[in-house]
Amino acid sequence: MRKFVLTLAAALLSLAALAQTHQLDINLKKAGAPIPSTLYGIFFEDINYAADGGLYAELVKNRSFEFPCDALQGWKAFGKVEVRNDGPFARNPHYVRLSDPGHPHKWTGLDNEGFFGIGVKKGESYRFSVWARVPEGGESLLRVELANTASMGENHFLCQDTLKVSGKDWKKYQLILHPDQTLDKSILRIFLVGERAATDLEHVSLFPVDTWMGHENGLRKDLAQALYDLRPGIFRFPGGCIVEGTDLQTRYNWKNSVGPVENRPLNENRWEYTFPHRFYPDYYQSYGLGFYEFFQLSEEIGSEPLPILSCGLSCQFQNEDPKAHCPLDELQPFIQDALDLIEFANGSVDTPWGKVRAEMGHPAPFNLKYIGIGNEQWDATYPEHLEPFLKAIRAAHPEIKIVGSSGPDSEGKQFDFLWPEMKRLQADLVDEHFYRPYNWFLAQGARYDTYDRKGPKVFAGEYACHAKGKKWNHFHASLLEAAFMTGIERNADVVEMATYAPLFAHVEGWQWRPDLIWYDNLRSFRTASWHVQQLYGRFRGSNCLSLTMNGANVTGAEGQDGLFASAVLDGSKIYVKVVNTSDKAQDVALNFTGLKKKAVVKAVESYLLSCPEQDGENSLERPDYIQPARVTFSGEGKSIAARVPAYSFSIYVLEK
Ligand code: AHR
Repeated sequence: MRKFVLTLAAALLSLAALAQTHQLDINLKKAGAPIPSTLYGIFFEDINYAADGGLYAELVKNRSFEFPCDALQGWKAFGKVEVRNDGPFARNPHYVRLSDPGHPHKWTGLDNEGFFGIGVKKGESYRFSVWARVPEGGESLLRVELANTASMGENHFLCQDTLKVSGKDWKKYQLILHPDQTLDKSILRIFLVGERAATDLEHVSLFPVDTWMGHENGLRKDLAQALYDLRPGIFRFPGGCIVEGTDLQTRYNWKNSVGPVENRPLNENRWEYTFPHRFYPDYYQSYGLGFYEFFQLSEEIGSEPLPILSCGLSCQFQNEDPKAHCPLDELQPFIQDALDLIEFANGSVDTPWGKVRAEMGHPAPFNLKYIGIGNEQWDATYPEHLEPFLKAIRAAHPEIKIVGSSGPDSEGKQFDFLWPEMKRLQADLVDEHFYRPYNWFLAQGARYDTYDRKGPKVFAGEYACHAKGKKWNHFHASLLEAAFMTGIERNADVVEMATYAPLFAHVEGWQWRPDLIWYDNLRSFRTASWHVQQLYGRFRGSNCLSLTMNGANVTGAEGQDGLFASAVLDGSKIYVKVVNTSDKAQDVALNFTGLKKKAVVKAVESYLLSCPEQDGENSLERPDYIQPARVTFSGEGKSIAARVPAYSFSIYVLEK
């Protein structure tokens, strides 16, 4: 009798276990919609010291002495230093004159503090360059060093060298410095030495020699590598709100960001003062990382470039006065900027802007296919401003796809007004933004399932899961982003691109968080959200596959136990993504239908992204604390079982 009861109990238990196994049905009969190569990409904006002080590897702040409140901001001058303004570069006219301090035991020169210090590494080489002349003719001598002013050692300097300047004409000089120590906060120091003949200096610059792809006007290698490793299909630049500017004068002006770097005029960075509680009075845009460099980087990381331009409206959050915006009848220069940009990117070398591109080193076109007009604009004024751009671009370049905007909100009045307007105007894509909390992401698994397939495509152009009181970028938010992205993937026929935002943040200079990649002057780390993006990029696949549970999409809906899932095909490979947002492990059966009678599917490998603490995060000290782990996954047949741990994101790779 006892044996019978035990057997019955065991049978009931296994029945219960069976009942709890979630049956995920994946139909292999027919490949679904093609997945655009642009589906997962990156959004770059110069916020959080993402350009100067970040990706752009220049180590000298205010290198052209153009900061408007104080031409010597970022510098410490000693001895006899005079700022003058009739320099060799018309759009950056300031320079400094170093003269004899008037006493053999005094010194003249300058220190530059860099961006939160100058980070240098022992064993690496640094290219110091400067435009200089001896105004009275003859020769002069400069001593150039990297120094640690906090050092208790005999010397401050980590390395030093001398540079001979000669003649009355401006010339570019350079030397290579080899620091004998690694230091995150050194300074650059320049002394006038020798006979101390008066010497003029302009565009004082210092770059690591070892930049991304070795470009002299280059990018920080670890940060560019972190972009490359995402395998981004689309690269949106230069932002965000920075496109609009706090006012029209300070909008991102791409024409000022191309040509020789010495003559690219300084621009105010709108993130200098947007948040007075995190205020950075020395945040400017040198435009050293400009549109040529953005296009070049797109090419090097394998992305389609997606420039966004001002539509003639300055930031509507910051400007209620209609006079702050460009009136419709004065829009032509803005429209011309867009047309000229297309020529800069794609025009032959015989066109005026194609020639500029060629002179900068890229005669071949950049093959631009997309352009965005306007960022987070709203009200009737936006479609009114957009329409003339659409007409002009369509007439001249019907091959270019144009991205319009649904405003700053993920839903609501402006969103509901602007989407139909974008349809009416036949924008090719609509840029949606959502920086939203946990419950929003949990509720949006099916967001795109019902979108109109005949209207414009979606560009989820800025998104991130935000949670109050959290630091940097914690695991749980990344998990909910992964959950939400199953809906992007399932709807790749209507979502053409999606980019997490913002991309970069300097740990000492951020205005906005969370962000995808953090860094200080020497180190960087990739967040849990980065790993989510990377997994989606790596396992993007070529076609959607239908994946259902009890006939419904798996979107975290009621009764689905916090599961979100999607599947794609990639040749003979199948990638199944399952996100478990619940606090319990879930058993799933991956059931493959549509196979020939004797055909089976084989488990190949599986990756798991999880973290013991939901608030866990990567950091400069523990950069790899959260990263995908390869886990055991085996089986063969028409159905393969897996256990999805609580709070985890799994990718199952199978072969048919
Ligand atoms: O990504 C930060 C900012 O968020 C962007 O500049 C803007 O478009 C959005 O409001």
